[in-house]
Amino acid sequence: MKVRTNFDVQDVREHFPVLKRENRGKPLAFLDNAATSQKPKCVIDAIYKYYNESNSNVHRGIYELAEEAENLYQNARQIISSRFNSPTEQIIFVKGATEGLNLIAHSFGPLVLKDGDEMIITDMEHHANIVPWQILCQKIKAKILVCPSLPDGSLDRNWLSEKFKRESVKLISLTSVSNTLGTINPIGEIIVEAKKFGKKVVIDGAQSVPHQKIDFHKLGCDFFTFSGHKAYGPMGIGVVIGKKDALEEMPPYQGGGDMIDQVSFDGTTFAPPPQRFEAGTPNVVGAIGLGKAFEFLNRFEMNDIANHENEVYLKALHGLSEISGFKEHGTTQPKAAVLSFTIDGVHPHDLATFLDAQGIAIRTGHHCCQPLMKVLGVPATARASFAMYNTEDEASLLVNGVKKAVSILK
Ligand code: ALA
Repeated sequence: MKVRTNFDVQDVREHFPVLKRENRGKPLAFLDNAATSQKPKCVIDAIYKYYNESNSNVHRGIYELAEEAENLYQNARQIISSRFNSPTEQIIFVKGATEGLNLIAHSFGPLVLKDGDEMIITDMEHHANIVPWQILCQKIKAKILVCPSLPDGSLDRNWLSEKFKRESVKLISLTSVSNTLGTINPIGEIIVEAKKFGKKVVIDGAQSVPHQKIDFHKLGCDFFTFSGHKAYGPMGIGVVIGKKDALEEMPPYQGGGDMIDQVSFDGTTFAPPPQRFEAGTPNVVGAIGLGKAFEFLNRFEMNDIANHENEVYLKALHGLSEISGFKEHGTTQPKAAVLSFTIDGVHPHDLATFLDAQGIAIRTGHHCCQPLMKVLGVPATARASFAMYNTEDEASLLVNGVKKAVSILK
């Protein structure tokens, strides 16, 4: 029997205004949360309030309004610093996990990887954790090794252990939770093992932050990055958390205002982190909204959220499993509440179009994981991904919708 401290899904739903709308004339069942989450009213209100009352540029003005904007921006950094147990100087605001990984690959990558070196990614990575490394490795003539996943969607740990022994392997960059399979990679264990061999570790945390509490200090990786919009915050804001010594050594990612110490036509010196990596006017309102999103999440035990989501996922899985030709992609347990599936003889896009007409929003396609689709041997999957506000009734709606679709489309 699970003990819930203060988790009541109906109460949670009251915080999310958009859940009251319809989709194609039917009550909305939003089951595409791995793509983006909906926003609680406190986040929406904070954005509205900022533009109504406090809008100004930061780091520049000496007037009251500018001071207020600056304080709100730095307060957001402080909230994130507390949530992730990492000093504010190690919290860099970026656009999202994609920009975060580009920053890390571009600025940190060349400090670690040289001509002939090797790095590891996994076969379940999002394109955002593949392409930046490919661009870097092509330039410096380093090699990317791809850790395979097993049929249940877990990583081949023996393969990893073997590769960690290689002197030429300098770095591993991997996702904490697969956006397609729902696999929760044992990043804690992998970091400990990688560190035993002196490897650098980068974690793409985009899919874990909405479901897990992360302690950057305890985790012990070199970098952790995530997007705000999947964790109930606004779009266009994300975070890179990096180890102090790495950040201090890294050259800037972009040049411009705010990231400098002194500029002359003879040369420029740069500000210390995090300013060094935040060139130009930052997304002040995005940071404030993200801070609010974490204040909202701080009201809950993350285990309560994960347990609730898992119950909704299991309800959907049990119902869908009754359908002939149903296959779940990613079955390792425990997993995040992500249900990727195919049904023999039914194209995922047709299925999603049918469900859309019933008010149910799911994602289909390759989920920005084309190499993983090759491994799975399918061109696309249908994916239902659950958040803290989804209900078991919505899981039943999904199951009934899919059953109806299958009876018509097959
Ligand atoms: N990366 C997002 C997803 O998995 C967009 O849908």
